[in-house]
Amino acid sequence: IKKISQIYIVACGSAYHVGVVAQYVMEDLAKIPVRVELASEFRYRKPLLDPDGLVIVISQSGETADSLAALRLAKDKGLRTLGIVNVVGSSIARESDLVLYTKAGSEIAVATTKAYSAQTALLSLIALNIGQKNISKAELKELLESIKKLPAQMEILLNKDKKYQEIAETIYNKEDIFFIGRDIDYAIAMEGSLKLKEISYIHSEAYPAGELKHGTISLIEEGTPVISIVTNKNIAEKTISNIKEVKSRGAEVILLTNSKCDVDSDFYNKKIVIPTTHKLIQPLLTILPLQKISYEVAKLRGADIDQPKNLAKSVTVE
Ligand code: AGP
Repeated sequence: IKKISQIYIVACGSAYHVGVVAQYVMEDLAKIPVRVELASEFRYRKPLLDPDGLVIVISQSGETADSLAALRLAKDKGLRTLGIVNVVGSSIARESDLVLYTKAGSEIAVATTKAYSAQTALLSLIALNIGQKNISKAELKELLESIKKLPAQMEILLNKDKKYQEIAETIYNKEDIFFIGRDIDYAIAMEGSLKLKEISYIHSEAYPAGELKHGTISLIEEGTPVISIVTNKNIAEKTISNIKEVKSRGAEVILLTNSKCDVDSDFYNKKIVIPTTHKLIQPLLTILPLQKISYEVAKLRGADIDQPKNLAKSVTVE
């Protein structure tokens, strides 16, 4: 991996969202250019690939048709391939030059949760492994300490059901819900939006907070829920100004933040505080409340959470 010039991450759905998180983490830590592509686009657009690049295919099932086709295309072009796969012995696992199994256990529900987290954790560790030469011993120690605290912090977040139910009560009958964030928080917003859509059937959209004013903000009306994710203190003030914009248009702001970012209570209606951790593993915590809120909303709507309508656990056809 040390000799590669470029990383291409190719996947579908939630696995693609993992790739978007990994792009931020890998470029920050490993200092290698990372490009994330939807497999269904990658396979048909005749991509220009650097022969010294590495193609990473992320897939829980290891059988997704578009991702398998993208893997085969990369191999035909002579690039080395790495599969990040949960199902042992699956097609993508077998056909990748290298495979790292996420070992999340078998995931039965159509909407992925633990596999998403395991993929994100594994790619962050790969980035750390490549990038440890780029960080100080002190930061490496801080990062490893933060990783050790993760299980306890995740436990805290997974046991706030009353809070999630309270928030679900305010949004379960809405028609449109927006998720906004910047940087890695935008990548998390993408997954939070997909979780809500696929199990509660509410239309929702994830948007880069800085993009709102280029059109979409015209959709924000009185009572429109906007789930706003602010965990990166370096750009918190920019996202907070976007939150103020939607709030001034009547949005119901549900804020997900940590102790690093201070948001005035005038600018949100509900707040979930996420334990503060190293910015490169923060996504592993930020996603949990979004998964749980989607679960509570789907429950209130009487939707079939494990087997949502029209969805399959593995999309083995185009
Ligand atoms: C996840 O909640 C979705 N059900 C779906 O987007 C899924 O992530 C996508 O189909 C990719 O599946 P894979 O990871 O098995 O390749």
